[in-house]
Amino acid sequence: MNVLGIDIGGSGMKAAPVNLETGEMLTDRFRIETPQPATPKAMTKVIKQLTKQFDWEGPVGAAFPARVKNGVAKTAANIHKSWIGTNVEEIFYKATGCPMTVLNDADAAGVAEMNYGAGKGRKDLVLLLTFGTGIGSALFWNGELVPNSELGHLRFKKNWTAEEYAADRIRKEMELEWDEWGKRVRKVLKYVNFLLAPDLIIIGGGVSRPQKWDLYASQLKKVKTEVVPAQLENEAGIVGAAYAAVHEEVSGHVRS
Ligand code: BGC
Repeated sequence: MNVLGIDIGGSGMKAAPVNLETGEMLTDRFRIETPQPATPKAMTKVIKQLTKQFDWEGPVGAAFPARVKNGVAKTAANIHKSWIGTNVEEIFYKATGCPMTVLNDADAAGVAEMNYGAGKGRKDLVLLLTFGTGIGSALFWNGELVPNSELGHLRFKKNWTAEEYAADRIRKEMELEWDEWGKRVRKVLKYVNFLLAPDLIIIGGGVSRPQKWDLYASQLKKVKTEVVPAQLENEAGIVGAAYAAVHEEVSGHVRS
């Protein structure tokens, strides 16, 4: 079965149809810059453009950069605050006519890795952390998602949260060397490892691409658990969102 997956990020909104048998995208992803300010109205317009681009009429899964419960956004760290309390599934459905399933972006990436990538077959405690505009987290036990964890907002280092200290955005803004940024990531991983003791940590987002991973992975060797890069790299959000659209046990509810 093919489902359109959309990954909504702080800087770009990307879509591609996904073959759910293989977990592969059927075309290159189509990307539109995230409008600023990232309001419900402006972003919904982009969702409409993305579905139109593929003449899509079937189910759509969207990975959204906030906590999402039953289709409703509960937080808004890197998007406009007016998202809080908005039924994201409903407004996307009204704009496109496509049945929509919306879940947290890191949860979506985790679902993709557990089904098709670095976490496939793992039944122990798996934690995926995505490093991008923010830090997202997805936790799995016995292969099942424990939804909506927000470990990027852990208080860390006096005045910072983990994402204010070590998101990929911070590396870019502060022009940190990869090694230096890698040390920050290591500190976050050590702290999270102490708190949760995962058996496997998967690093997701653009920084999981081999060319990037090789620049900082040596800094992560001292973390006392297995740490690997995501295999679907930054396609994981699209693939996991598409998967969630037809697996109600992932989204935890019947979609709009
Ligand atoms: C948000 C999370 C999201 C992460 C990555 C954080 O700021 O609170 O919900 O998963 O950024 O986009």
